[in-house]
Amino acid sequence: MPEDFVVTPWEVKGSVDYDRLITQFGTERITPELLERIRRRAGDLHFMLRRGIFYSHRDLNWILDEAENGHPFALYTGRGPSSGIHIGHMLPWFFTRWLQEKFKATLYFQITDDEKFLFKDFDDLGQATKVGYENILDIIAMGFDPKLTRIFVDTEYIHHLYPIAVEAAKRITFSTTQAVFGFTNSNNIGEIFYTSIQAAPAFLPSVLAKKPVPVLIPCGIDQDPHFRIARDVAPRLGFPKPALIHNKLLMSLQGPNAKMSASTPESSIFTTDSEKAAHKKINNAFTGGRATVEEQRRLGADPTVCPIFNFYQFIFDPDDAHLAEVERTCRSGERLCGECKQELWGLVEPFLKRHHEAREKAKDRVEDFVVRD
Ligand code: TRP
Repeated sequence: MPEDFVVTPWEVKGSVDYDRLITQFGTERITPELLERIRRRAGDLHFMLRRGIFYSHRDLNWILDEAENGHPFALYTGRGPSSGIHIGHMLPWFFTRWLQEKFKATLYFQITDDEKFLFKDFDDLGQATKVGYENILDIIAMGFDPKLTRIFVDTEYIHHLYPIAVEAAKRITFSTTQAVFGFTNSNNIGEIFYTSIQAAPAFLPSVLAKKPVPVLIPCGIDQDPHFRIARDVAPRLGFPKPALIHNKLLMSLQGPNAKMSASTPESSIFTTDSEKAAHKKINNAFTGGRATVEEQRRLGADPTVCPIFNFYQFIFDPDDAHLAEVERTCRSGERLCGECKQELWGLVEPFLKRHHEAREKAKDRVEDFVVRD
């Protein structure tokens, strides 16, 4: 069957069928039983789990088995530097912070300046590193525990990563990268090698501890292909396979099929947006509303294609009862898009204010988080 959407680590196109991705990628759905198990261990369930925003996994049961047997897991996630961090990038980080808090897990946070240089987002490697440090301010501002968090930039931590990366690289063929990523003869050899650098932190906790440490990677489902390869090579390297928990991607403010990216500022709220600019973006956003007020009152609107509803559901409205009321009044036509946007802004504004302050303070805290060779 021809696919009308594309999801790779570098490209997300079309209207993503998340159920179909589970089959395509060969991951597993998070079942109600698994949710119950997480609830028992964590004490509660993050709303992103309750709502199926984190919806797919690999080996999560094993991670919980290990935790129950006294083998605590480490967390690993990452960021390819880009000139702006938007709410969509932060989605998995909110959840990762929750995991860190509930499980007291050490978090390894990779900043892939090399990736973004190799894949041509930057002409200048130093610029990618610099932007990586800008992004680190946003990561620190999320409220991770400095005692349990190690952020590293690839080009500054390569001595730790390289021995692991070469072990992995030796066991990954070009044809595997062709099959998994669609690489061709015209890709530069750095691009072909890169996946072994993204695999390395999955094994780093075991190397540092000199014994097998289970690792859980929270990430957008688009990153799964890298870790499919990492899991493949893990046993041959003598490491446990990293487990994964995948989130669905946040919608662009321009609509369900539009791309959210730093090169399209209107597509999302960026952490460096002024409050005024952010408010304007929300006001101008696409919605699931009707052409006229009269029609909307009569027919109701469609929250399933609406980025404004998506923002409530995925990030800004953790209160299930309130969210249900937003959805009900949207579908019934009682709620109009203008007022709905205003109400959302009432949730976004305090978040943005707090984040701006925390981001300023983060400038003095970088050295509490960053590790180097
Ligand atoms: N490739 C990711 C990006 O472009 C960055 C990344 C590196 C990452 N390691 C990761 C993301 C681990 C999730 C989990 O943003």
